[in-house]
Amino acid sequence: VEETYIMVKPDGVQRGLVGEIISRFEKKGFLLKGLKLFQCPKELAEEHYRDLKDKSFYPKLINYITSGPVVCVGVVASARKLIGATNPLQAEPGTIRGDLAVQTGRNVVHGSDSPENGHREVVDTLADASQREKLIAKIGGRSYNEVAAGNR
Ligand code: GTP
Ligand code: MG
Repeated sequence: VEETYIMVKPDGVQRGLVGEIISRFEKKGFLLKGLKLFQCPKELAEEHYRDLKDKSFYPKLINYITSGPVVCVGVVASARKLIGATNPLQAEPGTIRGDLAVQTGRNVVHGSDSPENGHREVVDTLADASQREKLIAKIGGRSYNEVAAGNR
């Protein structure tokens, strides 16, 4: 069964949109699998967005994601359509970003882009604290997938 990892980004938490965003997944009928308020360590943010490392906005993105607590939610479903396009001004009304955000750099929510990444991200952030500490400690010497696989 497909899992999507959703993260309410720091701006969403600061704006008090956690309930609104989670509510949309619940009302749609998606099953919540995990939920956690979480201060993302820089190392994990860098791993999470490693594919964007060469982008000019990458340092801003890492600052943004680590700027305050995020809310991590695992849902059992494919949830990208509810989230909407990366640029909130291009996101359709009715989607979370289309309804609640205006800036790409402050787009309130993340959703994993494949079942594999969804599972990996759910495991990484919703794993218990001791597992997560171990995971973060190991990043660097080994590949991320290898580390995540050992944590499943
Ligand atoms: P995520 O669900 O967060 O992964 O967004 P996405 O899949 O819609 O977009 P992508 O993975 O390409 O980019 C990840 C995140 O980087 C986006 O959600 C934005 O927060 C940020 N980002 C992407 N493009 C830009 C940009 O041009 N400027 C800034 N400041 N941030 C950007
Ligand atoms: Mg993405």
